[in-house]
Amino acid sequence: MSKLAAINNLSVQYGDVHALQNISLDIQTGEKLAIIGESGSGKSTFAYALAGLLPFNSKQTGQINWQEFEGKPKTGRDIGFIFQNPSASFDPVMTIGNQLAEIITTYQGLSKTQALGEAADLLNRVQIAEPKAALQRYPHQLSGGQKQRVAIAASIAAAPKLLIADEPTSALDTIVQGEIVSLLEELVGQTDMTLLFITHDIALASQFADRLAVFKQAQLVEIGAREQVLSNPSHDYTKMLIAHCLTLDDGSAA
Ligand SMILES: Nc1ncnc2c1ncn2[C@@H]1O[C@H](COP(=O)(O)OP(=O)(O)O)[C@@H](O)[C@H]1O
Ligand SMILES: [Mg+2]
Repeated sequence: MSKLAAINNLSVQYGDVHALQNISLDIQTGEKLAIIGESGSGKSTFAYALAGLLPFNSKQTGQINWQEFEGKPKTGRDIGFIFQNPSASFDPVMTIGNQLAEIITTYQGLSKTQALGEAADLLNRVQIAEPKAALQRYPHQLSGGQKQRVAIAASIAAAPKLLIADEPTSALDTIVQGEIVSLLEELVGQTDMTLLFITHDIALASQFADRLAVFKQAQLVEIGAREQVLSNPSHDYTKMLIAHCLTLDDGSAA
C-alpha cells in the first residue's frame, strides 16, 4: 500500500493550550482510518491541520508530507471535508441545487445547466430520493440526515483523494447515524478514496475502519489494525474505552 501522507511530530497550540503534541502517523492510500478520542482530545485540530483549516490564533509545528499530491493539496478539490453540523455548511437562502452547482463549477468548467445535472447525479449517489426535485429545496426543508447526505455530496463533488469526516453523525439519531456510516463506506468503496473518520465512539468506528488511532489529551496513544487494537489494546485508555462499550452492550441486552 502506498502512503498518502506521512505526519511527523505534528504539534498545534492555541495560545497556552497544547491541542496536539508530537503526533506522528502515516495515512495509507485507500484506507479507512478512524481517529477516536474524547471531546477536547485534539481530533478536530488534527483534521483542520491536515486540511489547512486551522484558525489564525494557532501555531503549528512539525511536518505533514503529502506523497500523492504535487505540492500542497487543495481543500475542496483534493481533500473533502464533512463537518459535524451539516447546517453550518449551507447558505440558508440558497437552494441545494444552486449551492452544489456553485461548488461543481468551481472545480469543473461546466455551464450552470450541466452543473445542475451533475448535482442531481451527486444527490443520487448519496441516495437522496427524487434528486431533481431535491435541487429546488432549501436547507431548512431537509431533515438532519438528508442535510448530512447533501453535505457529503458537496464534499465529494470534486472527487477528492482524501475525505475527512469530523464526527459527521454526532448530531444525528442512532438509526440515521448507521445509514450515514454505511453511505460513507459505500462511497469510499466505489473509488480509491481514503477516509479519515473522526469520532468519540469506538464502537461506531469499529464497524468499518481498517485502522484505529486513539487520541488522548493531545497525544496519539495507540494506533493499529482494528482487530489488533480491539483484541489486544496496548494502552490502558484504549482498554477502558473497549470495556466501557462492552458494558453498554451488556446493559442494553439485559
Ligand atoms: N480556536 C481555538 N482557540 C482556542 N482553543 C481551541 C480552539 N479550538 C480548539 N481549542 C482547544 O484545543 C483543544 C482540542 O480541541 P479540539 O481539537 O476541538 O478537540 P476535539 O475535536 O477532540 O473535541 C481543546 O482544549 C480546545 O478547547
Ligand atoms: Mg471536534
